[in-house]
Amino acid sequence: MQEKTSSQGSWASRWVFIMAATGSAVGLGNIWKFPYITGENGGGAFVLVYLVCILFVGIPIMMAEVFIGRRGRKNPVDSLEDVAEESGQTKAWGLIGIVGMFTGIMIFSFYSIVAGWVLNYIKAMATGELAGLTSDQANATFKALLADPMTLLGWHTLFVVMTVFVVARGVNKGLEMATRIMMPALFILLLVLLGYAMSTKSFSAGWHFMFDFDFSKLSWSAVLVALGHSFFTLSLGMGTMMAYGSYMPKKASIGSTVIAIGALDTLVALVAGLCIFPVIFANGMDPAAGPGLMFMSLPVAFGQMPFGQLFGFLFFVLVGIAAWTSSISLMEPTVAFIVERMKIKRITASIAIGFIVWLLGIACLGSFNFMSNITLFGKNIFDFLDYATANIMLPLGGIFTALFAGWAVKSKFSEEELSVSKLFFSYWKISVMVISPIAVAIVFVLNL
Ligand code: PHE
Repeated sequence: MQEKTSSQGSWASRWVFIMAATGSAVGLGNIWKFPYITGENGGGAFVLVYLVCILFVGIPIMMAEVFIGRRGRKNPVDSLEDVAEESGQTKAWGLIGIVGMFTGIMIFSFYSIVAGWVLNYIKAMATGELAGLTSDQANATFKALLADPMTLLGWHTLFVVMTVFVVARGVNKGLEMATRIMMPALFILLLVLLGYAMSTKSFSAGWHFMFDFDFSKLSWSAVLVALGHSFFTLSLGMGTMMAYGSYMPKKASIGSTVIAIGALDTLVALVAGLCIFPVIFANGMDPAAGPGLMFMSLPVAFGQMPFGQLFGFLFFVLVGIAAWTSSISLMEPTVAFIVERMKIKRITASIAIGFIVWLLGIACLGSFNFMSNITLFGKNIFDFLDYATANIMLPLGGIFTALFAGWAVKSKFSEEELSVSKLFFSYWKISVMVISPIAVAIVFVLNL
């Protein structure tokens, strides 16, 4: 019997799938966002809640997404509909995929602005503009960038074009090539930076900040941020892992593969935190400085270490690459949907989506300058899109996916796809049927 595959292509092997899915998961969420929200939410206790969310909510939901995609072998919407039909359920489950496409476009539009900051720092590292900065100067440099809409627009445009370029080339030539080489390189460079951080006197201050659990500092809104971030960082709740799963070889075991991806993603976030916080404490900076945290702290560290300019340059290049392999995955579900459903060419679909993201991104970059007075629910557009997607839309998408996989899909099918031990399967089933939905519901209600 011929094996069912996606019309968009397949990953060459299980290893390529792991690299591509890790490329999606590891991104600005790990290196930029995780440290700054940890700083804003008091450190240790927040980190613990985040780890618990990854383990008990994120990993089971990622398994669900990957198996739905692999079983459907189509874009997220059609995969959800087909898998639902096969179990005798309504096609309305496809709505999860539709909402997910909007979520992806919303995330991409602010993601691209932050990626633009990274591109700007690559250039600044290369030209030596950042050499020997004090922390006050690093602060001022970042603020000056935010105040300059034309520069932000230039970088934003470049990043959207880079992403469209890869997505337009398709699964094998585009996505696969991009992740194969870049992910391993990023790990190595992070380890170099960690080595430097460990050699500084403030390493233990950074360590204690991240791993001393002081629950008095924890609020329910911090728990929501930790939960939301576990979806964001694992690329869950919007169809990305379904799309990537649809290109996954049949033989590969979903259970162990997903655990590997979750572990790599978590490791990168923790190491990024351990690189950044020692610098923050060594220079008397504020860990709660917000989205600029990485951009204001790391240039100072690179300024002080031997070969700092070279390492700094390489580091920002790799963060840029990590952002790139993630932004690709933000577009992929929508592009696959347009190509398969509307029979439009991949290149046309990619450009069209890229254009929408580009427009929305202008509103995000304006949040820091000419549009800073425009707010939605008390937040500027950038913060609003970040908050609404990570803390509301992704968790909701994830929960409906969990409910779908747990209650609507016949056990026979999910067991067949996941191919894990009986015990692990029971754990997974309980998690998606009860634990994850209830956990998210409680956190939502307590935040209202
Ligand atoms: N996981 C990515 C990151 O951490 C962001 C992302 C979210 C990518 C959702 C795809 C889907 O940067």
